[in-house]
Amino acid sequence: MCGIVGYIGAQQAPPILLEGLSRLEHRGYDSAGLVVRANGRGPRALKVAKRAGRVRDLADGLPKRFAGTAGIGHTRWATHGPANDVNAHPHTDAAQRVAVVHNGIIDNAAALRDKLTADGVELVSDTDTEVIAHLIGQSEADTLEGKVRDALSVIDGTWGLAVLHADFPDRIVVARNGSPLIVGVGDKEMYVASDLAALVRHTTTVAMLDDGELATVTANGFTTFRHDLTATSKAASRVDVDPASYEDATENQWGHASYMHKEMLEQPAAAERMLRGRLDERFGAAHLGGLNMEPREFRAIRRVKILGCGSAYYVGQMGAGLIEDLARIPADAEAASEFRYRNPIIEPDTLYVAVSQSGETIDSLLAVQEIRRKGGRVIGLVNVVGSAIARECDGGIYLHAGPEVAVASTKALTNMFLGFALLAIQLGRVRDLSIADGKRLVTALAALPGQIEQILAKEEEYAEVARTLAEAPSLFFIGRVRGFPVAREGAQKFKEISYRHAEAYQTSELKHGPLALIEPALPTVAIVPADDLTERNVGALHEIAARRGPLVVVTHEGVDLGGVAATRLDVPRSEPELDPILMTLPLQLLAYHAALHLGHDIDKPRNLAKSVTVE
Ligand code: M6R
Repeated sequence: MCGIVGYIGAQQAPPILLEGLSRLEHRGYDSAGLVVRANGRGPRALKVAKRAGRVRDLADGLPKRFAGTAGIGHTRWATHGPANDVNAHPHTDAAQRVAVVHNGIIDNAAALRDKLTADGVELVSDTDTEVIAHLIGQSEADTLEGKVRDALSVIDGTWGLAVLHADFPDRIVVARNGSPLIVGVGDKEMYVASDLAALVRHTTTVAMLDDGELATVTANGFTTFRHDLTATSKAASRVDVDPASYEDATENQWGHASYMHKEMLEQPAAAERMLRGRLDERFGAAHLGGLNMEPREFRAIRRVKILGCGSAYYVGQMGAGLIEDLARIPADAEAASEFRYRNPIIEPDTLYVAVSQSGETIDSLLAVQEIRRKGGRVIGLVNVVGSAIARECDGGIYLHAGPEVAVASTKALTNMFLGFALLAIQLGRVRDLSIADGKRLVTALAALPGQIEQILAKEEEYAEVARTLAEAPSLFFIGRVRGFPVAREGAQKFKEISYRHAEAYQTSELKHGPLALIEPALPTVAIVPADDLTERNVGALHEIAARRGPLVVVTHEGVDLGGVAATRLDVPRSEPELDPILMTLPLQLLAYHAALHLGHDIDKPRNLAKSVTVE
């Protein structure tokens, strides 16, 4: 949530900062700003430009003579105070000598604001961040590092922050506590950012700060230290990412109109990457070296608890189903955002699994920390290499989906499902999953990328259905057992980008209340795979049709819908355990085309941000 970028070197900072901000805009997009250090010291040394709106609005409105070779910038997702020019970052102290950009939340901001006001400081914004600038400005320490340390010592909360000070023109000081902060190394120039996306065009040699760490960044290098100013001597290393994959979807060779579209269509290739080298066709097993676990440790597991947020939580529910089906271990998924608040019982023979695209979702990260604090073993299914959750876990499975930029997650979710399938096979094969069943699933997994491609090829068909659904103010998504998390994910995608009210129910629960809402204006999207529940599902379709509720049915070829009037969307057959992911794909396309039809900003839906790094 929110994006930070910084540059110090010999080049002009503004174009670099603006370009970096545009790459971070998916992190927060209600306002943007930057500050550069011009020549000289004193009040006029820092030049600030900020405004509500998008990065392009900021760029268009930038004064002509806005120059400097060091600067920091920010793109905001509002937490304290509405999205307006004043609340946009950077924030400065009263003397305009300190400028701060900040991600995270200062929990004791109200008390600090009161104290500053009592000291005669005039606060101009509604934000929590502004207090940091004033506190740094008030510090009497001799160094910028000391001033930042003084400010942080009275702050409670989370931060990824960058500080520019007129009196210390050769440096930017950055700090991390709960919000990502990365230092990028160039040739006699250095970068800082909250996300690799803003760095890879310039450098892939980076150092990722840990919580509680700070860094001084000058044109010639960086040093890292703790709050007590003792050195942590972190070194930079190369990250294995393809800078081309971060290029803007609208400019690149794929020629898609949005990241979401690009990312949906990348799913066959992403799935293939995820499975590469991990399927053992001979023994019907999976290779998951990153888990750092021996077969006897797998056998000792008595329960699996999966934690994730939003769509990652729903895929976690699909994953729990896979683990119960294939490994016969009790498994369930829980919203990570609730987990630590109920003082969870952490058991030594439970395997905890954190699932996250970004690896930075604060609720999931805090859940992982709670488990580890209580001595539990936790593994991560994470897309972003080196992210906080990946680093915090005892082992894990990287998703290899490639960078995902659209707020609506698609290819990462598909790979999360594949990760769960591999884990379930692995857990199953050290227990009762037979070699024949293992081989059956491994063969089916190998076929999935091709089947995903077949579904995506039907995009036009889905687009037509989506345009009809988009006209309804409200809709239901229903499914049962394996189909229920599919319905939840379908409703989530739909509401996220189309802004239509979409609600998921277990098909079996319809008669216990929601059926009262069925009428011609309320369409239902039903998940009806060819399995042992088909007949019951078709029964529910009849009940909806009898009340003149329009129906879209995601099903398999050959499933007899018993003459019910419905628009059917057939997906290829796989093994029943893998149906959930193939049935999720049409729902992504329905949501996408509904949002497109309604003219929404698909990659940046209102009120949301790509990764939620505040509680
Ligand atoms: O980065 P994460 O996977 O941890 O993000 C979790 C959720 O915030 C995320 O899945 C969210 O629900 C998506 N926008 C769904 O499309």
